[in-house]
Order: sequence, then C-alpha cells, then structure tokens
Amino acid sequence: MTDKLIIFDTTLRDGEQSPGASMTKDEKIRIAKQLERLKVDVIEAGFAAASPGDFEAIRAIAATIKDSTICSLSRANDRDIARAAEALQAAQRKRIHTFIATSPLHMEKKLRMSPDQVLEQAIQAVRFARNFTDDVEFSPEDGSRSEVDFLCRVIEAVIKKGATTINFADTVGYGVPELYGNMLKTLRERIPNSDKAIWSVHCHNDLGMAVANSLAGVMIGGARQVECTINGLGERAGNTALEEIVMAVRTRKDYFNLELGIDTAQIVPASKLVSQITGFAVQPNKAVVGANAFAHASGIHQDGILKARDTYEIMRAEDVGWSANKIVLGKLSGRNAFKQRLEELGIALDSESEVNAAFTRFKELADRKSEIFDEDILALVSDEEQASGSDVFHFVSLAQRSETGELPVAKVVFSMEGEEVSCEANGNGPVDAIVNAIESRVSSGAELLLFSVNAITTGTQSQGEVTMRLSKSGRIVNGVGADPDIVVASAKAYLSALNKLESKAEKLNPQI
Ligand code: KIV
Ligand code: ZN
Repeated sequence: MTDKLIIFDTTLRDGEQSPGASMTKDEKIRIAKQLERLKVDVIEAGFAAASPGDFEAIRAIAATIKDSTICSLSRANDRDIARAAEALQAAQRKRIHTFIATSPLHMEKKLRMSPDQVLEQAIQAVRFARNFTDDVEFSPEDGSRSEVDFLCRVIEAVIKKGATTINFADTVGYGVPELYGNMLKTLRERIPNSDKAIWSVHCHNDLGMAVANSLAGVMIGGARQVECTINGLGERAGNTALEEIVMAVRTRKDYFNLELGIDTAQIVPASKLVSQITGFAVQPNKAVVGANAFAHASGIHQDGILKARDTYEIMRAEDVGWSANKIVLGKLSGRNAFKQRLEELGIALDSESEVNAAFTRFKELADRKSEIFDEDILALVSDEEQASGSDVFHFVSLAQRSETGELPVAKVVFSMEGEEVSCEANGNGPVDAIVNAIESRVSSGAELLLFSVNAITTGTQSQGEVTMRLSKSGRIVNGVGADPDIVVASAKAYLSALNKLESKAEKLNPQI
C-alpha cells in the first residue's frame, strides 16, 4: 500500500520573506493560480497579521482558489489567529498554521519566556484556532534545536487540543539528514497520541541540506507532508525546493513508494513565473528547473542520449514542463488570439482596458521582434502589472550613446507623479549613465546591491530581463524590467525598484 505525500507550498509566505522578494496582491494571485494548476495540496498564502497587504492577498486567494487548501500563518496569540481566520473566511478548505519557538535559545533570548509559559501559549493558540477550522497546524519553531523531552510535552498537549498537523521545523537549517530524520522518529515513537496528527517537515537550506533533510524526515521519521517553495525561494539560503522533492519522490518511486497529487508538467511554468515576478533568477545548473538541467554538452553523453535516452536521462524534460520555445504569436495576430493566449497561460486581466493596454504593448513588441513566445507574453504582463496605478515613476523613453574611448551618456525621460521629466548624465558604462541620470532627479539615496540580465528566450532577438536589487534604510526590493534593448530594460528595472521603495508597505517578520 502506498501513502500520499502532502505537498505544502509556502512560496507566498516563507518564500516571500526572502529580502527583495515581496510581491503585490495581483502577483500573489497569479502565483496561487499556477500552484493550483500544479495541484499542490496546501498553499500557505501569507501571514495575515503581518500587514494589511498580506491580509488582503490571503483574502483574495481564499476567494479565488478552489482546489487547494488555503493556509495562513499566525503567531501563537489570539489576535494573529483571529486575523488569519478572517482572511481565510471565503476559502473552501482552510488551515490555520500557528507556531511558537521551543528551543532553549529562542525561548530565553527571543521570547523571554519560560518553557511552561511557551507550553501554555501553544495550548491556548491551538484551542483558539480550532474555533475557526478543524484543520490546524502547529509548528515548534527551531524544533531541530529543541530538547526532545520538552518537544514531547508541547506536541502531545497541542495534539490533545486538536492540532491535526505537526510541523517539525528546522528553522535555521542546522539539521543533518540522519539526525533530523531520527529526531522526528523519536518524537513520533515517544508521543502517545502522535498517530492523531499528520507529521510534516519544514527545512531551510543554510547548509545545502534542506531537500535531503526533508526526505530523511519522510523516510526515517515518517513525515507525510513536506513544506517547500518553488525554486527553493526563501530567506538566506532558501527553503526546500518543491521541484526537487516532487521529482525525487516520483523518479525514485521504487524507493519512496509514495503517491503525489502534483501535475509535474506545471513545474517549469511555475518556476518561470516565480522567478519573473520576484526577480530571483534560477541558476542554470539548478536541478529540474535550471536551463542546463536537461542539456547534454559532452559528446559521449549526446551520443548515448541519441542511442537510448535513458542512458543519461533519468527524467524527461517534457514531464516537468520544458517545451521547445514555441512561437505563439506574431505581428499579424489579432486581439482575440492574444486574449485567448492570455487565458491559456492562466492570466486573467481585470478589465477590457487592461487587455487593450497589454495588446498595445504586445503590438509594439511584435514590431521589434518577429517571433513572440509565451515567455515574452508573461514578461509583458508582469511589466503591465508592476505598473500599477499607485506607481510614482513610469518609464517613457531613453536615448543612450556609447563609443569606445568615450564616456557613455544617457538621456532618460520618465514620469514622476504624472509629470514628465527628462534628465541626462554620464557614467562609466551605459547602466551607470542611466542610473546617474535618474538619480539626478530622484535623489533616492538607494544602494544598488545586485544587477543581473537574463535572456528570456533563445536567440539574439530575445528580450533581456533585468533585475535590480536596491537597498535603502534596511529595506531591500527587487525591480524587474524587460525589453529587447537591455539598457531600456535596465532603466525600467531601476524605476520599478524605486516604485517598490516608495510603497510604504511595511510588514512584520513572523520570526520576530
Ligand atoms: O522556519 C520556520 O520555523 C518557519 C515557521 C514559521 C514554520 O517558517
Ligand atoms: Zn521557515
């Protein structure tokens, strides 16, 4: 008999905690819809008490998604839990996920609470959460560095109060597969009512072992839920990568013998969407979703693949959603064909005027680029969505000149709170020149932490997608811009990052 492994995706909550990865409500809804197509069992849509923006995003996702359980994180207090319950009201299936730290270090230094106080608060939280739903998850934060005896007391008590999932958190990525798996096994063996809950693993990748630890938690510890994110997105070194867990369990079914509900053909589209929205590029050699994951360069490998594919390939690229770049639309495509392609890609624009605006941009792009791929459409819509009504800055045009031996110069025209401004500056390169030009008017004082360019598709006609990460007063944001001209893409990315810095939305970090 095979068991089901529950896939709990936390891209929109723990993934979003990654500095610079914050997403707008509309972006979160687009990702949630893709997660639903991927058929994840549980979507952790956010942390409702963190900010009004998080609350609204969870509420919208709860009202939109039908097939996955929608979950909100909450600290172990009544206010957070009530807020989570309110945000989840419209969900067909809802889960409240409450947590409190249980390690001596966190209890003493962070919470300044005694173990008995922590135990009492955990019990109260689960009891209160059960007033709103019978699907309640409890996480002992920093669980892998907690004392087994104390964990046993807390977990037994919260299961008694009605926790239905127990999530053994390796919050700081300290775990080692064998030890982490065995600790989970010990807990399940020692806690008398452990069989009344589903056990879950939640691992961070600080030592590069998040996937290995999660799988050890499943195989040694008996966990039947894995918490993970698309592309392993997450704070510091990230979380367990969903695509790696899913493809490991599926490819090595002979060993894991577990059932999954996931539609694996939706993995690569999910990976591209998350990367495009957050500006976190996927490394080329990343397992499953990296551009090189199925590329065979050496002659011996290519020869083997041609003779029999399975000589060097353990998964098929098409099974995880890699498809040869398909030309989907061109210069002569009409509005209806464009609209239909948007629908096929799962993009629902709110109004006809938004479709018209996106179609105008599509036509402009098709004038400059003969073949338009799905990736181009996704980038175009992302640009359109980033340009929300509340944005302060909008790109208008750019003139730029570089010549060997000359200092590059850029003239950027953009609108600032509705007023068009034009500015010009030199720089030691074209990107430096556009940033200097914009800053000559904006004086943001932000520091550029990261600049990256990726080709969206293949070929020299491809659009370049630029990510710029800015930091100011402790806040970090990513701006993304796409254009066939990478200097224009850079200007768009810089303005998009400035818009994010302008949006004052502050949120709590759940671990604080
Ligand atoms: O890493 C962690 O401990 C968490 C908890 C809130 C589950 O993300
Ligand atoms: Zn976490």
